[in-house]
Amino acid sequence: MIFDSHAHYDDKAFDQDRESLLCSLKEKGIGRVVNISSDLESIGRTEALTGQYPFLYGAAGVHPSDTGALTEENFSRIGEAFRNPKMVAVGEIGLDYHWPEPDKAVQKKWFERQLALAAEKRLPVVIHSREAARDTLDMIRAAGGSELSAVIHCFSYGVEMAREYLNMGHYLGIGGVVTFANAKKLKEVVQYMPLSQMLLETDCPYLAPVPYRGKRNDSANLSYVAETVAQLKGISREEAEAVTYENACRFYRLEEA
Ligand code: NI
Repeated sequence: MIFDSHAHYDDKAFDQDRESLLCSLKEKGIGRVVNISSDLESIGRTEALTGQYPFLYGAAGVHPSDTGALTEENFSRIGEAFRNPKMVAVGEIGLDYHWPEPDKAVQKKWFERQLALAAEKRLPVVIHSREAARDTLDMIRAAGGSELSAVIHCFSYGVEMAREYLNMGHYLGIGGVVTFANAKKLKEVVQYMPLSQMLLETDCPYLAPVPYRGKRNDSANLSYVAETVAQLKGISREEAEAVTYENACRFYRLEEA
């Protein structure tokens, strides 16, 4: 069984066939999915999905690129989501310096606030970090370092940065990019890191693995990611799937089904 630790099934890319697709996942070997919010509206959509599908859990948080919409008034919406016991993490939150907006000060302010919310609620955090390696690491350290439990989703940095997070006990999210021929740096990270700190993720509808690169992604494609991880680690695909499933249950604090 495969655990998809990071999906966006509330995305409009799934509007035509969301129900049939989600209902088909079990027979394709997908045991559990965590749907990740990216803005305030997607928190409500994520909660609705967790009510419809027993195998689907949710995370509530605002993506760095959407933090321009946050105010002191609407920030409380994020915390309210955790009255629902199927909302199991704060995310995705972090820093994205690829785009100039919102500016770094705004992104940092709301990243810090959401890290504090996670600490207050004692929940794990799902981190988005793009072209912001140093600031992300500094802010996670300041927020409690290894006191906090984090996954660096769609990990895009090198072995040096991986070591920093792994030494603090955090997890790295590995998805479709690892199957790309030019993903030399990520393949090195996968070979370097312990399997016990790896989560598999789609980030669907984005980042489909080879041979579906560029198409809409969904959790069933994680078998290609597991196969590539298995080759890089010299283990079987079944072992890669089983260990990352256990890891995700531990990270999101779910009992193993
Ligand atoms: Ni995502």
